[in-house]
Amino acid sequence: MSQIKFSVSNTNSKAKSGAVVVIGAAPVGEKVQLVGSDLLSTSELKSLGVTGKPETLTRTLAGGQSVAILGIGSDSPDVDSWRELGGFLGRALSDVDALELQLPLTDSAAAESVLEGIALGSYSYAGKGKQPALSSVHLTTALSVDKKSLKRVTVLAQAVKETRDLAATPANELYPSHFAKLAEGAAEKHGLKIEVWDEKKLAKDGFGLIAAVGMGSVRPPRLVKLTYAPKNAEKHLALVGKGITFDTGGLAVKPLGGMLGMKYDMTGAASVYAAILAIAQLKLPIHVTAYLCLAENMPSGSAMRPGDVFKARNGKTVEVTNPDAEGRLVLGDGIAAASEERPDLIVDVATLTGAARIALGVRYTGLMGSAAAVNAVKQASQAAGELVWEMPFAKEIRSYIDSPVADLQNSKVGSSFGGMLVGGWFLSEFVGNKADGTKLEWAHLDIAGPADNEGSAYGYTPKGPTGVMVRTLVNLAEGMCA
Ligand code: BES
Ligand code: MN
Ligand code: ZN
Repeated sequence: MSQIKFSVSNTNSKAKSGAVVVIGAAPVGEKVQLVGSDLLSTSELKSLGVTGKPETLTRTLAGGQSVAILGIGSDSPDVDSWRELGGFLGRALSDVDALELQLPLTDSAAAESVLEGIALGSYSYAGKGKQPALSSVHLTTALSVDKKSLKRVTVLAQAVKETRDLAATPANELYPSHFAKLAEGAAEKHGLKIEVWDEKKLAKDGFGLIAAVGMGSVRPPRLVKLTYAPKNAEKHLALVGKGITFDTGGLAVKPLGGMLGMKYDMTGAASVYAAILAIAQLKLPIHVTAYLCLAENMPSGSAMRPGDVFKARNGKTVEVTNPDAEGRLVLGDGIAAASEERPDLIVDVATLTGAARIALGVRYTGLMGSAAAVNAVKQASQAAGELVWEMPFAKEIRSYIDSPVADLQNSKVGSSFGGMLVGGWFLSEFVGNKADGTKLEWAHLDIAGPADNEGSAYGYTPKGPTGVMVRTLVNLAEGMCA
């Protein structure tokens, strides 16, 4: 993996020779000026057509150097804008080997943000062959940015890249046992404990829902539990990810248009996987477990049928009224398993419902859960610049999933109203109790909208898999250490 090397100093002498120098430009009244540099005059900028508008870039030669003039707008950018501007730079200049930044950053948070944006924006899918050329970024500034922050930026960008790469990997290459193998390699490399349930052990240990979803495929299901437990940990965070390596809809087979993107249906599992690896690399003093609920949802002679009933890990029985509502099934078992250790907080991440895309569009993650958990996630997401929107536990929803033959059913028959809420409510039925009998803290993230950017790239977000919520999860862990 090619990783960008970041450096910071108050002189440009440490920058790689031949680096492209990035200078900010902003509109000032009717004119445009470079900010903090007099390398080019107002009239030169005018003749180059520089507007100073955000996310514009003009490349030229000045003072014997290759210069890239970045429009930053008339308002001083905030931390989120710097991340987006960085992303824009990373995309626009990913073919350049080295950059030197001379930007009007007001504090170290802004500095970290622009670097993070560059690292996130310069992404391209590892399987595509051609990788970004960008190998070093030097930031010339009087601000102090410590080694630890640079390491954090690098680790976060790597985690997002890992998620995007896994999501983009075709389902014929990435299937449950293969994902589990990758996790075994990573666990060994980063010193995590790992436990893998294969289809036999899943059945034996009562994971009836993961087993049910996986039984239609010749590629059997897996449950992977990763544990990072440093000695200095006080709190315990459990992460649960939906890892449907391909979702055909099962016997409720999707039409081609709806099935096409379904290799991405394991993005939740990829996100929690990348997050726990990042948390371990940052050596955060927190106990984290990650459950990857891996299965391929296929129609076949051995697939689960509408009307079949299965018993979950927590003992509840579930009638499968729709084999295409498979994510909540595998997560039900995963959340139940995570609950057994009574962590301080459980967060699940899933491309759970098409309804989330209808309700919230493609940039907001749907958020449901207990009040404290929801607040913690909101805070963490805000710091990451990732958008979440809280959805309600509407009273009428429970009756939608009453089953005549089991404790609950996995979807309402004949109506898709409130589909995101039904999914979230279903999952809540698998959250276990604290020692005092009250429910464990739990939050659910429905990333069906923002996990995949079907449109064109913007800011630090490429076309295709985005790696959304990975940085939020790491922030959340950091917040629990404080
Ligand atoms: N993986 C899909 C949800 C999805 C749809 C994610 C589109 C990304 C883009 C999920 O398994 C699914 O099929 N959900 C059904 C639920 C329904 C059957 C209750 C849906 O949203 O239609
Ligand atoms: Mn489905
Ligand atoms: Zn699915």
